[in-house]
Amino acid sequence: MNRAISILPGNPISDPQFSYFTEQELKSARSFHQSLPQYRETPLVSLPHLAQKLGVGGVYVKDESHRFGLNAFKGLGASYAIARLLAERLGLDKPDYKALMEANVERNGKDIVFVTATDGNHGKSVAWAASIFGCRARVFMPKGSKESRVQAIRSINNTPVEVTQMNYDDTVRLAADWAKQNGQFLVQDTGTAEYYQIPRDITLGYTTMAAEALKQMRGQYKAEKPTHVFLQAGVGSMAGGVLAFLVQQFRPSPPCVTIMEPDTVACIYESAQAGTGKPVAVGGISETIMAGLNCGEPNPLIWPVLRDYASFFASCPDWVTEQGMRMLAHPQNGDPAVISGESGAVGVGLLQQLCHSPQLYDTKRRMGLDESSQILLFSTEGDTDPQGYRQIVGE
Ligand SMILES: Cc1ncc(COP(=O)(O)O)c(C=O)c1O
Repeated sequence: MNRAISILPGNPISDPQFSYFTEQELKSARSFHQSLPQYRETPLVSLPHLAQKLGVGGVYVKDESHRFGLNAFKGLGASYAIARLLAERLGLDKPDYKALMEANVERNGKDIVFVTATDGNHGKSVAWAASIFGCRARVFMPKGSKESRVQAIRSINNTPVEVTQMNYDDTVRLAADWAKQNGQFLVQDTGTAEYYQIPRDITLGYTTMAAEALKQMRGQYKAEKPTHVFLQAGVGSMAGGVLAFLVQQFRPSPPCVTIMEPDTVACIYESAQAGTGKPVAVGGISETIMAGLNCGEPNPLIWPVLRDYASFFASCPDWVTEQGMRMLAHPQNGDPAVISGESGAVGVGLLQQLCHSPQLYDTKRRMGLDESSQILLFSTEGDTDPQGYRQIVGE
């Protein structure tokens, strides 16, 4: 028997003054990305037949498998954080690719090593971002990491990768200790009261993806605003950053945002359920095919945004994302196909269940999902584990 999906309503507050990022910060991240020679907007795919089948107004999927040739969205965060750090060291007033190159970043950066812990995508992004500026990276991965993901990181600039015997959160602590002991730079997507600038820059980098999606919805599909957005979370930096951006863009009436996690490691769901206002950790070594979401401790820096502004929290078994992967790989009636990996497709799987499962009918009603809904989803990775992908969706 399939395990059930659990959905918890949030209690989003309405704050007409809400501002997590300054306009200046948002602009800085966006113009840095646009300055990169590898920068292209990733496609926003419309799935009209799926929308019709589900009885909603529109379904739009941002396909991040095309981001910087990395097969996932994470390069947006790592590249911005690394560029900001290098710009500061070189005395530049803003991170800009051309300005960094003109300031001889490659010569000045050749002894710099960026260290991180990762489930895969973030580490690959750090290795890539380090390499474009002539720096190096060192990456730590948790127990159980897939060999294909390890190799994908090693193949960038011969980056050393160590697979630990620990879970993700302990691997993060190990990477932080390593960086401190070896005088190297930690580039982590989760933070503490003492380590906040880099995780904030990473979170900020992710807003470019949301800004592109809104522009594409309006420009390509004449859809003024998403009414519902589904965001998957590991430590919650992506979901929190995008949520903060959406609330700022659409205050006082932001879209209904649902945060989704694997049910075996649903630390944000658990934190919301605990109701103490504080983030809760889920310990141990957890199993899920959603490797990018296999994180047991919410990023405490972004957690308050998730707590205060998310409308729903969903805890999803693996079969939900498997269903989403298949639906996106084999679309119906001429909708375009999207190659969406395990951590990318959970939103489509959940949407399908919300629209068709009698057990979720009340939740669907509470969410206000109906024929006028314009739904935005982020397929945050492609087939980052190609063998696993083929086993799930077929050849
Ligand atoms: C493909 C993918 N989607 C979503 C996420 C979640 O991002 P975060 O850890 O910021 O919540 C990750 C994290 O690694 C990821 O790799």
